[in-house]
Amino acid sequence: MRTEQTGTDGTVESIGSARDSAFFDRWYTELQVSPVRDTIVARCLGAPDEYVGTTGVLVWDALDEIAAGLRLEPGAVLADVACGRGGYGIELARRCQGRLHGVDFSAVALKLAEMAAGQHLEDGRADFSLGLLTATNLAENSVDALICTDAVQFAEPASAALAEFGRVLKSGGRLALTTWKPIRPNPRLPESLRSLDLRGDLVRLGFSEIVVARRERWRAAERAMFEEAMATPPDAGNPVLAALQYEAKRSLEEFDSLQRIIVFATAP
Ligand SMILES: C[S@@+](CC[C@H](N)C(=O)[O-])C[C@H]1O[C@@H](n2cnc3c(N)ncnc32)[C@H](O)[C@@H]1O
Repeated sequence: MRTEQTGTDGTVESIGSARDSAFFDRWYTELQVSPVRDTIVARCLGAPDEYVGTTGVLVWDALDEIAAGLRLEPGAVLADVACGRGGYGIELARRCQGRLHGVDFSAVALKLAEMAAGQHLEDGRADFSLGLLTATNLAENSVDALICTDAVQFAEPASAALAEFGRVLKSGGRLALTTWKPIRPNPRLPESLRSLDLRGDLVRLGFSEIVVARRERWRAAERAMFEEAMATPPDAGNPVLAALQYEAKRSLEEFDSLQRIIVFATAP
């Protein structure tokens, strides 16, 4: 087990650094070993018990804001890019009685997402396929709305992912992203995070109605999650807890360098 490398959400290096699909396959496989991470994350983020299908660290009630911001209509076609285990996209599709295309480059995550969709959506309402943030394999002009939660910063570069989202969205379709942004210059942050300019990229790509907003309460929930992880008694036999505690320690060290943001935009 490569516990010291498995955190992918909260640590500054893991938020900003691109990782390959083998890394994420290994991470999703390891997560199945113990429920400890999922239990702490779900409790601190307010996710319902039946949903362990998230990997990002987005508070569950952010989905109310995202559903409204995406202007989801009944039967909408939704894409969830870098969907991980699929929880957020599945829940949004369930709420609007819509259709979901989930994309990720981790085959292990996609298997877990398929299983989660089987529990929450009727047959035929969701499909999951291999693809990249920058090359999703989804058809051009094919979706009404697209989400990418806690992952756009992994794209190399993020602007290429945004261009791909614009290609896949129908004209007038809505985009929602969640990610992190430096609060002030900090050379310890990875270059990919320091150089993230989502608003500028979206303007250059012709998106309109661009909103980039800070969400301090989401960040506070992340802090609570990491503090709970650190307060959990160590268990030498549990690699998932060891990885979470490593992630929590590193994250808390640099915690005040980053803010949480949500981004909405309308495709050209
Ligand atoms: C922090 S997880 C977030 C997953 C999910 N969006 C959520 O919020 O639960 C990041 C996800 O991005 C995926 N990912 C990272 N880089 C990627 C890339 N270049 N192309 C496609 N997926 C990628 C990983 O496999 C992982 O599932």
